[in-house]
Amino acid sequence: MERTLSLIKPDAVSRNLTGAINSRFEQAGLSIAAQKRLLLTKSQAEKFYEVHQERAFYGSLCEYMSSAPIIAQVLCGEDAVSKNRELMGATNPANAEIGTIRRDFGESIEHNAVHGSDSPENAVVEIRFFFSELEIIE
Ligand code: CMP
Repeated sequence: MERTLSLIKPDAVSRNLTGAINSRFEQAGLSIAAQKRLLLTKSQAEKFYEVHQERAFYGSLCEYMSSAPIIAQVLCGEDAVSKNRELMGATNPANAEIGTIRRDFGESIEHNAVHGSDSPENAVVEIRFFFSELEIIE
């Protein structure tokens, strides 16, 4: 069993796509072991995305991610990190394969519906950012 952090971003939450996206995870065999809705502050978004702080899109990304509610969740299952990345598709919805979450629901490279951890090591760090161990029920 592996865990990964998933975020449903403001663009998808505001269009009531949480259920549709969650059903993609569940149909692929990933369980939702923890989930909460929250409104990040700008500084929390900056902290979460600090690996991107040198990138040109960092300011806009942090502004966006703190602009409206998100859903943070822990997905759990076999190869959860790579399985979730397959389900999400490429970062830019325009380049993502048909049938992926970002292709089907993303609006732009920034408003791309979901975030998922890119490695098991980063998943541990990202899950700890949002959840205490007590909140994760596998
Ligand atoms: P995410 O997987 O959350 O990781 C970083 C986010 O930055 C990415 O999804 C996009 O929402 C956003 N982003 C905006 N512009 C770019 C870009 N040019 N390249 C990569 N990510 C970008």
